Amino acid sequence: DSADLGHYRHYMQKEIFEQPTAIANTLQRVVELGCQSALFGPEADALFAAAPAVRIVACGSSYHAGLVARYWIEEWTGLPVSVDIASEYRYRKGREQDGTLIIAISQSGETADLLAAMRSARERGDVKVLAICNVPHSTLTRESDLLFLTQAGLEIGVASTKAFTTQLVALYVFAAALARSRKTLEAAQLTEITDALHRLPVLVEEVLAMDSKLEAWAQELAHYHNALFLGRHTLFPIALEGALKLKEIAYIHAEGYAAGELKHGPLALVDEDMPVIACAVNDELLEKVVSNLREVQARSGKVFLLAEPGCESAHEGSHRVLTLPAAAGPLAPVVLTLPLQMLSYHTACRKGTDVDKPRNLAKSVTVE
Ligand code: G6P
Repeated sequence: DSADLGHYRHYMQKEIFEQPTAIANTLQRVVELGCQSALFGPEADALFAAAPAVRIVACGSSYHAGLVARYWIEEWTGLPVSVDIASEYRYRKGREQDGTLIIAISQSGETADLLAAMRSARERGDVKVLAICNVPHSTLTRESDLLFLTQAGLEIGVASTKAFTTQLVALYVFAAALARSRKTLEAAQLTEITDALHRLPVLVEEVLAMDSKLEAWAQELAHYHNALFLGRHTLFPIALEGALKLKEIAYIHAEGYAAGELKHGPLALVDEDMPVIACAVNDELLEKVVSNLREVQARSGKVFLLAEPGCESAHEGSHRVLTLPAAAGPLAPVVLTLPLQMLSYHTACRKGTDVDKPRNLAKSVTVE
């Protein structure tokens, strides 16, 4: 009821602002134990050490979280990782190598396609299922071998916000714990990866303080019928997630693209009516992102740039620039999710859509 909303207008807005707490709660045991296999169950260490591959299955925003996790797992463990949309995986015919870790990601733990994909995986080989879930007593948690519960709390808004960022955090911890069990990282690297987590709730809080700037961007964005979201590396799935949010709640047609893929199609759509929302961090790919943005600008596309400090080379020619308070290193995809959530939220408010219950969508899809 409205009392639960406090001073917020919508549950989605409230849930966006609950993210520092949701993330801190999800990290509570990690703070005590570090990124350890024990967080996933007593058998996890042996299963992590022996796994020949990782297969991630999920739907919607949870699938996007899985796409981000692939970069972390591959980089820190060298294991092969595939990420599948559950509704596709369940009808594919491939086998699984024995010992493969199936990571089933779901806020609700009740999504029909996800449950079917998990059951199908078990028929393809002697696999082990690790559930990343926000609902303790769900079908997914009951049927999994290993479990990590995100602590987002009840999420009412249909469009996932705090459930998504806590999934990212859980997957980051998983990737680090896997590396630890497999001894693929130096102790100092593991410490660095774990320490970055400790700063995350404060950083997320600082990004939330930029809300009014995103509200101003939304006043502009609400006038368009299309939008393109761009990112590279771990920010590519965040571009997908940003586009999904805008579609879901603001009913604006949006596509997320890997910035390097721009020239293979979407560039043909870019003109003054196609705003481009781009994410940038100061890494070895920055100059490649800059040249992608130049291609947009050369075709009169308006660039709305979300950037960590140190990305000044991307500012020139951009229509709007928002610089985040600090660099988040490998956690950049978590931090950059927030401004995209706020942007969609304010755009939807401006358009007057039903933010918490967008038309035709359900919070949990329990039928195929
Ligand atoms: C629905 C929701 C999405 C969610 C997806 C997967 O489409 O609207 O927000 O990401 O289901 O749900 P799950 O509970 O499996 O994460």
